[in-house]
Amino acid sequence: MASPLRIPDRGPSGVDARCDAGIPADLRNRLEELGQAHVFAWWPQLSAALRAGLVRQLRELDFDSLEQSIAYVRRSGSNRTGQADVGLPAANVADELQPPRDVIRQDASFRRHADHWRCLGEQSMARGEVAAVVVAGGMGTRLGWPRPKGLFPVGPVTGKPLFQWHVEQIVALRGRLRAAIPLVVMTSTFTHEATVQAFAEHRCWGLPPHDVTFVCQGEAPALDRDTGRLLMAAPHRLATAPDGHGGLFGALQREGTLEQLRRRGVRRLFYFQIDNPGTRVCDPEFVGCHLARRAEVSVRVIRKQTPEERVGVVVFDGRVHRIVEYIDLPRRLAEAEAPPGSGKLRLWAGNTAVHIFELDFLVRCARDGVELPWHHTTKAIPYFDSTGRWVRPTAPNAVKLERFIFDLLPFARRVLVVEADRRREYLPLKNRVGENSPHTVRQGLISLAAERIQRLGGEVAAGTAVEIDPRWNDERLARAIAQTPRITTDTYFGD
Ligand code: UTP
Repeated sequence: MASPLRIPDRGPSGVDARCDAGIPADLRNRLEELGQAHVFAWWPQLSAALRAGLVRQLRELDFDSLEQSIAYVRRSGSNRTGQADVGLPAANVADELQPPRDVIRQDASFRRHADHWRCLGEQSMARGEVAAVVVAGGMGTRLGWPRPKGLFPVGPVTGKPLFQWHVEQIVALRGRLRAAIPLVVMTSTFTHEATVQAFAEHRCWGLPPHDVTFVCQGEAPALDRDTGRLLMAAPHRLATAPDGHGGLFGALQREGTLEQLRRRGVRRLFYFQIDNPGTRVCDPEFVGCHLARRAEVSVRVIRKQTPEERVGVVVFDGRVHRIVEYIDLPRRLAEAEAPPGSGKLRLWAGNTAVHIFELDFLVRCARDGVELPWHHTTKAIPYFDSTGRWVRPTAPNAVKLERFIFDLLPFARRVLVVEADRRREYLPLKNRVGENSPHTVRQGLISLAAERIQRLGGEVAAGTAVEIDPRWNDERLARAIAQTPRITTDTYFGD
């Protein structure tokens, strides 16, 4: 803990009435109105440069949104229980939400069409029309890993980090289809430097560097979860956090990436999140489904298992499709069955956070000035307290403002939902222990690799870890298995 600074003699507003010279009056008034004058508590001790920095940061605040968020925090106060606590304003959650309308399920009909869809997807990729976009700007507070989550070792045998795990799938597809599939990586101020450095050190894990673009997302202020006061990171700086995965939409616009991708012939973005190693990056079948149904946005979903499962659902609200976070779904709707008494959830389509966006759709939303709404999530965010101490909370202490990328759904003219095999494609890494933790992810990845080995005639002894290089096709794997069909020690099948 840093040593506390001397605390200034503050007036009732939180600003020393005698020492506030130089604080722009409009800013001071607005912040006082919002009960946030404490942000100037250290003003008298700041140098001119630090004062200018604070003023600059405060001027960048969106005061209207801030006002709403403060009101929200004060209203909900200690009643707040969830991780993500307001998805949509209650009024927007229609009473009778319906399941999505255009759905492709994992059934016999899927298997009949799969070859056709795969072919469509591969052709689009071979024409250079698909770019992969991964969001990797999160702070990973629940995992408690101090570096970017993309650097977390997930390879059960190799310890490959998540970035490599995903990138090698793209490298494999590029090789097989002779396609130039570019990768866009969204970082944040928390992850940017370490991410760019790791890509450079590892030569982008086999991707040509000119096909990798980094875009850095924006930030939003963090509020004390009990009082709604802006948290400080230093006497002259507000505490901020990345502005959510929805920050991607703004970042792509700000950095001119939409236009750059359009110019190189990209027509659609395959969006995924860094923390699900089950993602089949640029899965040709999924891309083919999207094309066959002429969707503007496609969502990969899993069947939600219980009303309590912490997964957002894709719904149709009678007018548009949207994704409603589990915490915002009224219990009655979460529990509704179709047909009644069947034990099958009516709102069944659980979001895996894998999407395809048509580039034209994103360009249209940008041109129309679409602004994604703010949500509030509670997180553990370090801050500089009023006594001048640096505090590192171990439990959520802050409300963080975030945008969610799926709030683009209501703007799409055509939304497609494609069901995935949960066991294969949903292995999120969220928590340090328990569900969705390194342990469950490791077990999931090992059993998927073992199943593939068994299908090709091999046998994996219990308790043995196996891992397969995504660049290895079945033919190559079968050759290796033929040499040692019974695997009794941890083995990596790869180059
Ligand atoms: P989560 O919502 O699980 O957040 O992110 P997180 O930051 O990784 O973890 P916690 O909640 O602090 O424990 C889902 C995905 O969205 C990305 C993450 O990197 C992850 O791929 N994300 C999240 C961003 O890129 N930026 C953000 O601001 C938030």
